[in-house]
Amino acid sequence: MRRLVWVWWLALALPVWAAQPVHARHAMVVTVEQNATDAGVAVLEAGGNAVDAAVAVGFALAVTHPSAGNIGGGGFMLVRFADGRSTFLDFRERAPEKASRNMYLDASGKATNESVTGYRAAGVPGSVRGFEHASKKYGRKPWADVVGPAVALAEKGFPVSYGLAKSLGGSAGRLGQFPESKRIFLRDGKLYEAGETFMQPEMARTLRRIREQGARDFYEGETARLLAADMERHGGLVTLADLKDYAVVERTPLTGTYRGNDIITSPPPSSGGPGILQMLGVLEGSGYEKAGAGSAAELHYLAETMRRYFADRAASMGDPDFVKVPLAALLDPAYIAQLRKSIDPEHATPSSQLHAGKPPGPESSETTHYSIIDADGNAVAVTYTLNFGYGDGVTVPGLGFLLNDEMDDFAAKPGEPNGFGLVQGEANAIQPRKRPLSSMTPTIVTRGGKLELVLGTPGGPTIINSVLEVLVNVVDFGMNVQDAVDYPRIHHQWLPDQLVMERGFSPDTIALLKARGHQVRMVGGMGEVAAIQARDGWLEGAADPRTEGTAKGY
Ligand code: DON
Repeated sequence: MRRLVWVWWLALALPVWAAQPVHARHAMVVTVEQNATDAGVAVLEAGGNAVDAAVAVGFALAVTHPSAGNIGGGGFMLVRFADGRSTFLDFRERAPEKASRNMYLDASGKATNESVTGYRAAGVPGSVRGFEHASKKYGRKPWADVVGPAVALAEKGFPVSYGLAKSLGGSAGRLGQFPESKRIFLRDGKLYEAGETFMQPEMARTLRRIREQGARDFYEGETARLLAADMERHGGLVTLADLKDYAVVERTPLTGTYRGNDIITSPPPSSGGPGILQMLGVLEGSGYEKAGAGSAAELHYLAETMRRYFADRAASMGDPDFVKVPLAALLDPAYIAQLRKSIDPEHATPSSQLHAGKPPGPESSETTHYSIIDADGNAVAVTYTLNFGYGDGVTVPGLGFLLNDEMDDFAAKPGEPNGFGLVQGEANAIQPRKRPLSSMTPTIVTRGGKLELVLGTPGGPTIINSVLEVLVNVVDFGMNVQDAVDYPRIHHQWLPDQLVMERGFSPDTIALLKARGHQVRMVGGMGEVAAIQARDGWLEGAADPRTEGTAKGY
């Protein structure tokens, strides 16, 4: 009898031992915000493909997730078509023509915060041209149908969520410096509360023009003119000519393998794809996974792998259209074997022994990622951003959208840390028309030609490591995608020489890591992964419980 009870209990309990992703048979959308997810699903249900849905979500997030969703910023879209082809759309911001190497240094040669706040921080936005390029070349719905949901959200408004209210309130310092941002996003100081309706008439007008005239409005039409005029009034650098000239670059995704899986990921100017491939290379065959997920030995090995990649990142990465990125060298099997050999399983390697560097700056984060699979099996992973939360804080009067501060992703002063504490080199110095180096890493995993995993996240430099961790949680530790996303994360970026850890690891594990020589810093949360796994005839969508993401499918 006792035994029977035990078996019963097991049968009942088993399903809840794993966190449950959202299951759907045909299609799935995972974004950080419910209205945007709904917009994506609606476009799919109306016969759109994953690219159509991605464009609709991109515009919708610009309305409903203003800290990172954008039309005033840029990003990357990775697409894997059902027939196995793949492509990568680079609609990253570019430095304006008037930008120059030392533009953010004061008279004494010190970096100012002009790369982060105010008009001069903005690069030439790429999102609208990126979305138009995607829609024209790979979508099947009319443009008006994919811009339409965002127009409606801006015009009619949507209920402010708990997270949005908190985020807007938390950014009052930044947004309050610019009257138009203060008026729109802070309601002139009378902050929005959860449940209130947020309407954005200026944004609606801009989006309507984009819906009617296409990207031409943003880059050559009324939006362009208003933007350039306001830039000029406030000492910003972006001109009409910069806007007109902005071009999307379609690149070949970076590919590699890991334990029989094919990895399709982001090429430079993303530093993320090269990072994922180098780090997976170091991990493969090291046996690190035998220690078990979350054990001190496993975390130590991961951290050492991360530290080594970020040292390389600092030295050699930049826009491939301007500098030679030594991809072959970074991913060379002999070099990777050498990196693996240099890891001491018992002791942390001080970062100072890997390369010289300087102490860090502060950290912050805001970007957004969404993942989509349609009923035909096309997969899209998009990470796009204004860089820091609410970008440079500037809303151009009459336009209703925030501008990016992506210029801070350059090395304002090579060798010195940027806003993410990242030390970067000459290869990422500022030059007119150049794209700043990015950590954004939309990634897709297949096996035997079949789609397996679509993922990505915001989080500045932590992006690269978060993508790596979720990927190995699935591949090496057999977690379902929701468990893999939920699992606590670590981050090491070479400099500062710190092992950053989320809550959730045991104090014993942390003590063991400290004993190995790691300087541990605990943080509240890193990243906001949106992932989909295709498994056993199901699509499993995992939003990140760290924030208000939503997975929905049919
Ligand atoms: O492209 C990059 O690497 C950064 N601009 C991303 C910023 C970011 O993820 C901030 N987010 N949480």
